[in-house]
Amino acid sequence: MTTPLREARATRRMVFSGLGALGVAAALAGCAGDSGSAPTVTAGDELATASEVPVGGGIVLTDAKIVLTQPVAGEFKAFTAVCTHQGLTVTSVDAGTIRCSHHGSAYSADSGEVESGPAPSPLAEVAITVDGDRILAA
Ligand code: FES
Repeated sequence: MTTPLREARATRRMVFSGLGALGVAAALAGCAGDSGSAPTVTAGDELATASEVPVGGGIVLTDAKIVLTQPVAGEFKAFTAVCTHQGLTVTSVDAGTIRCSHHGSAYSADSGEVESGPAPSPLAEVAITVDGDRILAA
């Protein structure tokens, strides 16, 4: 059954990044940047399928305000997509780094820790579970 969140994932507001999705990210340029609050998901919401999250990269779910990453094959992480600098939505994930292009903050895609830029604190981790190929909010 399709959930409202799953439907929202298919909109142009979903920003892909990582290997193999650069064309999608380019096509969607300019659609991120919402400021906002904490992630807006309920336990059990399907966030993505595992195959949608590139190894070494990730996807930014702008509506849900969650960034999903796969630092190494088969290991998935989720963090708030709300940048700790000024509360804008992070913009991409590539080469193991979550990036917020608004002012240049960068976070580890494995831990959410700040790697560079003006962000004062890490991205908070969001609990997820993986059920087969489905990544669900926990
Ligand atoms: S809001 Fe992300 S770097 Fe400023």
